[in-house]
Amino acid sequence: MMAVPSSRTPLVAMVGGGQLARMTHQAAIALGQNLRVLANAADEPAALVTPNVVIGSHTDLDDLRRVAAGAAALTFDHEHVPAELLEKLVAEGVNVLPPPQALIHAQDKLVMRRRLEALGAPVPRYAAIESLDELDDFAARIDAALVVKAARGGYDGRGVRMASDLAHAREVVGDYLAGGVPVLVEERVPLRRELSALVARSPFGQGAAWPVVETVQRDGICVQVIAPAPELSADKAAAAQRLALRLAAELGVVGVLAVELFETPDGALLVNELAMRPHNSGHWTMDGSRTSQFEQHLRAVLDYPLGDTDAIAPVTVMANVLGAAEQPAMSVDERLHHLFARMPDARVHLYAKAERPGRKVGHINFVGDDLTKLRERAELAAHWLSCGQWSDGWEVHG
Ligand SMILES: Nc1ncnc2c1ncn2[C@@H]1O[C@H](COP(=O)(O)OP(=O)(O)O)[C@@H](O)[C@H]1O
Ligand SMILES: [Mg+2]
Repeated sequence: MMAVPSSRTPLVAMVGGGQLARMTHQAAIALGQNLRVLANAADEPAALVTPNVVIGSHTDLDDLRRVAAGAAALTFDHEHVPAELLEKLVAEGVNVLPPPQALIHAQDKLVMRRRLEALGAPVPRYAAIESLDELDDFAARIDAALVVKAARGGYDGRGVRMASDLAHAREVVGDYLAGGVPVLVEERVPLRRELSALVARSPFGQGAAWPVVETVQRDGICVQVIAPAPELSADKAAAAQRLALRLAAELGVVGVLAVELFETPDGALLVNELAMRPHNSGHWTMDGSRTSQFEQHLRAVLDYPLGDTDAIAPVTVMANVLGAAEQPAMSVDERLHHLFARMPDARVHLYAKAERPGRKVGHINFVGDDLTKLRERAELAAHWLSCGQWSDGWEVHG
């Protein structure tokens, strides 16, 4: 008997209810789907918009089973699900993408460093540290400023500490070790700037690379992304894309892979870290590329053919909207109103998150051809949405 084709749309389930899940749901709508999310609470960004919500914890096996039940694929908006739980889900037949043996390289900075080294990818000099003696040995060996990192659990620079000197590094390492946190220490790489090579890979093996971007960081948080990275030679951009596609294939990544890169003053590229999900460095694609990273991630985990990754304009600038140190008296609604009045070209994406200092609550894209002008506008707009102040003195009712 012939199987009757199912007319049901496939269901993708995502662990995490943050802004990445929210924007993936937005992309799912266009594909005739909705996203099922595992959220900690009903007021998380994605839980507010998809009707398909499981409230629970990403560290609870039963909650993970509930969100995965009947899904064509289970994927992630963050990397904090313990690998043991994912292995159990795989054993029970859940299609976990990226698979746990790939995802571990985005979960553990030490596992990642070792694997990248084995694959011949350039990385900063580093060492796993289990005692202060090992730290002293490493410091003596490399003769450079040190960065101490928690191997797991950090994001937005939270597990990363720039040591002012060896005594400081010893203090930080001591604290981490006392807390039972696995630690690595790296040379502090002199940075010309930071770049990101974003690619996607499907189970079929298709790969697609977006233009390489520059990510501008402030206090360990990305504040602006420029696509494509200005003054990056075509050769070097292509090499970064090839590296990212190779890593995606060698690690068995399915979905979007972000390869965060350091560019040194002499022009060398080193891999900083990997993320296996839609990434902040790809938010520009929502307005600046033919295919957004969110749609591409869905296409990849569903093994659909991937979409065109070309930029639609010479330059796109993305600015993150961060919660201000002091929440402005003016409501978000009113700030948005004034932003649109001044800048009709602003492409705004808000996450419906409460404003807290330094928290990513949205982003704004500007698409065009004048890099300097777009960067200025992005900076002004993001600062306005954060603080309710125009940093160039523009008068709202002037
Ligand atoms: N070895 C290093 N040398 C110089 N800067 C670094 C180094 N490691 C991290 N940083 C800085 O800290 C930021 C956050 O580090 P990262 O390892 O990416 O942690 P997170 O997981 O929090 O994103 C980087 O984007 C970079 O600006
Ligand atoms: Mg990072």
